[in-house]
Amino acid sequence: TDRYAVAGNPVAHSRSPEIHALFAAQTGEDLVYERLLCPLDGFEATVRTFAAAGGRGCNITVPFKFEAHALARRLSPRARLAGACNVLRFDGGADSEDWFGDNSDGVGLARDIERNAGRPMRDRRLLLLGAGGAAAGVLASLIERGPAEIVLANRSVDKAQALVQSHAGFAAEHGVKLRASPLDGTGEGFDMLINGTSASLAGAGVPVPAAALKPGALALDMMYGPAARPFLDWAAAQGFEGRDGLGMLVEQAAEAFFLWRGVMPESAPVLASLRQRLE
Ligand code: ATR
Repeated sequence: TDRYAVAGNPVAHSRSPEIHALFAAQTGEDLVYERLLCPLDGFEATVRTFAAAGGRGCNITVPFKFEAHALARRLSPRARLAGACNVLRFDGGADSEDWFGDNSDGVGLARDIERNAGRPMRDRRLLLLGAGGAAAGVLASLIERGPAEIVLANRSVDKAQALVQSHAGFAAEHGVKLRASPLDGTGEGFDMLINGTSASLAGAGVPVPAAALKPGALALDMMYGPAARPFLDWAAAQGFEGRDGLGMLVEQAAEAFFLWRGVMPESAPVLASLRQRLE
């Protein structure tokens, strides 16, 4: 039986073991998926020990996505652009220099928005909030969907500018207008809002004025569970279609499962079952 895990600190809250167990049952793949709590100074050592004990790959969550990126010798283009990995595949085994790193957060988010929420991004105007790891992880995959424009708004504008700069060439290749903005000066008329800040965790509310969005716009927070509740309440009160990050979570997991096993699981029943368990 092949072993996989989610590596992080903390990891007790992670829903990834449930999701991958459901994928394995659905596809008949022979695998187990565990939680791997890594000491803050012991990510690489913990992961290598796991690989030596039969681990074939892992997901990575906070705060190790940047270290995972440094550890991978081969990177997908989207992981290189993000500067962070949420998936490793231990190609060549425990001591190998050949580990492959990917970032499936953005493609998971894009699939959730386009397929699950039924909102194609092509030629739309997107407002992405945040310039930390969460926003950086998804920007390349949003660009690939070919929206007309992405405005990246952040409290510290310099961090948004740095991300815009590192993605400028990629955006130009895809014909996407990309610019940085302060939170209170984004302009108006956006079709979709994606909140990649941790403002809701800080109890700070939605950090952008509702007037930035078109009526009926999609408003998605990458958080899920109780942390997403204030954002969803705000979206409902403003007449937007609110959405949490649970669909993104399941879709990024499906993409990781595909990278490891070569089989793409069906996400819809897993998302439905997870939502039921969380409510
Ligand atoms: P993550 O890995 O979850 O992205 P992070 O790298 O610490 O975490 O980034 C947190 C993001 O949330 C940042 O964009 C941060 O803005 P700054 O870059 O200005 O710090 C944003 N953020 C956190 N609390 C916020 C608040 N109360 N209002 C607005 N933005 C906030």
